[in-house]
Amino acid sequence: MMDPIANLQSWFEERLGLSRLMSPLMSKPLSGGARYQFSLGSLNLFLFANQVVTGIFLMIYYVNSPDHAYDAVKWIQYKADFGYLVRGLHYWGASAMVVSVLLHIIRVFIYGAYKKPREIMWVSGTFLMLLVFGFAFTGYLLPWDQKSYWATVVGTSIPGTMPGGDFLVRLARGGTSVSNLTLTRFFSVHVEILPWLLAALAGIHLTVLQIVDHTPPWNPEKAKVEAPFYPDQAFKDMVLFLLVFVALIALANLSPAPLGSVADPTVKTYVPRPEWYFFFLYQLLKYFQGHYEFVGTVILPNLFIVVMLLLPFYDRNPALAPKKRPIAMACIGALIIGYIALTTMAAVSGSPGGGPSTVSISKGKLLFAQLHCDSCHSINGVGGQVGPPLDKEADKRTREWLIAHFKDPQKMSPGSIMPKFNYLTKGQMDELTDYMQSLK
Ligand code: HEC
Repeated sequence: MMDPIANLQSWFEERLGLSRLMSPLMSKPLSGGARYQFSLGSLNLFLFANQVVTGIFLMIYYVNSPDHAYDAVKWIQYKADFGYLVRGLHYWGASAMVVSVLLHIIRVFIYGAYKKPREIMWVSGTFLMLLVFGFAFTGYLLPWDQKSYWATVVGTSIPGTMPGGDFLVRLARGGTSVSNLTLTRFFSVHVEILPWLLAALAGIHLTVLQIVDHTPPWNPEKAKVEAPFYPDQAFKDMVLFLLVFVALIALANLSPAPLGSVADPTVKTYVPRPEWYFFFLYQLLKYFQGHYEFVGTVILPNLFIVVMLLLPFYDRNPALAPKKRPIAMACIGALIIGYIALTTMAAVSGSPGGGPSTVSISKGKLLFAQLHCDSCHSINGVGGQVGPPLDKEADKRTREWLIAHFKDPQKMSPGSIMPKFNYLTKGQMDELTDYMQSLK
């Protein structure tokens, strides 16, 4: 009798010719041989597949309305069978994808793999990275808990720091504040627009790779070694997928995806923090204030993207060996160290230190409205007339005076009718003060 598997294979082969189609791709020799660092690109694809599959399962229960989103996620996390696992894989998968994409880019950079004729690989790869960050940012809001709500308030306020950026803020939010309209548009972008864009762009990325091939190792001796993609490289890819997947399952169990309390736009005490991979931005913003704030929020990040996109067009040095590319290596080294340093600094300094940050000022502004300070004080002509206008408060009082005054207005201004705000936390006092000191 014939082997049933071989039988089935030849049945399909006769009708589809898959092995004739695939074998040139599968047996294509890789110069440099099979290596784990070449698996990072495939790992990105694997993690994307993980996000798609778990995302589809999450959508079975998820409801994109502020009335139900939080309860739906709570149900997924605590009630639905394996819900915590699916959500945990999606949550940790997102972090893993950011790490894997960044490592892949660093690897490509060090190998000089962006150079002619692989410019299209690099440019499409840069856009893929931006899409991954877009996924992270839009996905963050969907659980509709305090953290996701307030982080989105701060995140979407960023374009507003730029002259004329208010329009973009309204576009991102679907109005002036973060509301049901924000949730529905973030959801649409997250599940309808970004996945197709990413799939299409990844398709281009991989098709072009078949044409230009990967960059051989810079050492000519090592480049001579060759191994076919299948089974040599494919095996290494699978080992890495398995390790990462086991790690994700472990994380989903040991450190379940978080869910705070439901988003409440009126709770005044919430300190928003972005996901760790955006910490560097959060930290960077602390160094740019007042008139120059938009340098940190808008100019620098966009400049960085342009510099990155154009890299293969101005770096015309054909050398691949890092030794022959001192400037390029110094730049990537500085970037890696900068990213790690900013991330650690933001992680350690729980609350904003070293001068007011955008985050702190925007929270102070929010407190100002929530505590109804505007019923007595006007800013730029808007608000009550009971107390003095605060437009020029920055130059009028010191930090110490302002804080002492919030605690006990009568002590600082005898006879004042301003209520005492001595019940605010230290953090809130700082935020209000930061806001007052931003009024120039
Ligand atoms: C009931 C009305 C009222 C409310 C509410 C109120 N204030 Fe006042 N505020 C006053 C009055 C009146 C003064 C002037 C007397 C004084 O300095 O205390 C004043 C003074 C101030 C000053 C000092 C201005 C200066 O002379 O430099 C600041 C700053 C200030 N308020 C901030 C706030 C903030 C922030 C809030 C909300 C947390 C707030 N106020 C809420 C009535 C109010």
